[in-house]
Amino acid sequence: MLNPIQQEIIRLKQENHAVILAHNYQAVAIQEIADYTGDSLQLSIQARAANAPVIVFCGVRFMAETAAILNPEASVLLPNDDAGCPMADMITAEQLRAFKDEHPGAAVVCYVNSTVEVKAESDICCTSSNAVKVLESIPAEQEILFVPDQNLGTWAASQTHRKVTVWHGYCPVHHWGFRLEDVEKMRRDYPGYVLLAHPECQWEIVKNADLVMSTSGMMNYAQSHDKLIIATEMGLVDLLNSMYPEKSILPLSRTAICQNMKKTTLQDVLEALQQHQHLIKVEPETATAALKCLNNMLDLR
Ligand code: 13P
Ligand code: SF4
Repeated sequence: MLNPIQQEIIRLKQENHAVILAHNYQAVAIQEIADYTGDSLQLSIQARAANAPVIVFCGVRFMAETAAILNPEASVLLPNDDAGCPMADMITAEQLRAFKDEHPGAAVVCYVNSTVEVKAESDICCTSSNAVKVLESIPAEQEILFVPDQNLGTWAASQTHRKVTVWHGYCPVHHWGFRLEDVEKMRRDYPGYVLLAHPECQWEIVKNADLVMSTSGMMNYAQSHDKLIIATEMGLVDLLNSMYPEKSILPLSRTAICQNMKKTTLQDVLEALQQHQHLIKVEPETATAALKCLNNMLDLR
């Protein structure tokens, strides 16, 4: 049963012919009013396909910017203007240009968790669910620069035979949120459980996990498995527990909370629809170059 503010959001959404997209880390109350939920790749695909004048993106800024680039016909609103991604800000376009100058001839793969300007300087984008496929799409002899996430880049490279040089960015939530001691303790206390890790976690975590996958990969896996330990942001663990109360789904650590993903409230979504705020604007020349980088990824499917 939806609460009064959720009901008003649904009414306004219909009145405005808007589509609401919500990332898997958003609060369950936000997921409940969304038309589509998913990981970064799924939401990019939904944004591109959305036949709506307004897209309300419940996530963080780089996701809303990606939606605005993929669907320039729509007005994309980010309900909380302050919801950013610290990792996306760990490399600027200027730093990337200098990195490219140091590695002439290298192909540049950027994680979708990056600014529009960095995408515009990159050859092809990737998400956590297709990073290996993207690396493998690049000619075997070509050097690859991977920005900004050192952890996703290192893990994806380990699944291929490509020569990959990673930038030193990281997601503070995944990089600092899990320790090897957490893995050892949970393995001791919960034998028989399957440990799923997000590739934004540090190498010592992913190398000791049973499986490494995106947030939607974890959601698919949870459909047919009952005993899981999850190494990703707490929002996904909460979502899985709300979907499967009869299963035993445990976080590897309860401290892995993305404050940025939690900034968006139902009140923000309501105000976004009432006042048509906060509209994402991307400079057209940058948007064109970033679109090429995103399409190079989406065309791979
Ligand atoms: P995915 O949902 O694509 O796995 O990404 C996780 C993330 O950290 C998004 O910011
Ligand atoms: Fe950025 Fe990490 Fe938050 Fe994802 S979980 S939005 S990568 S800070």
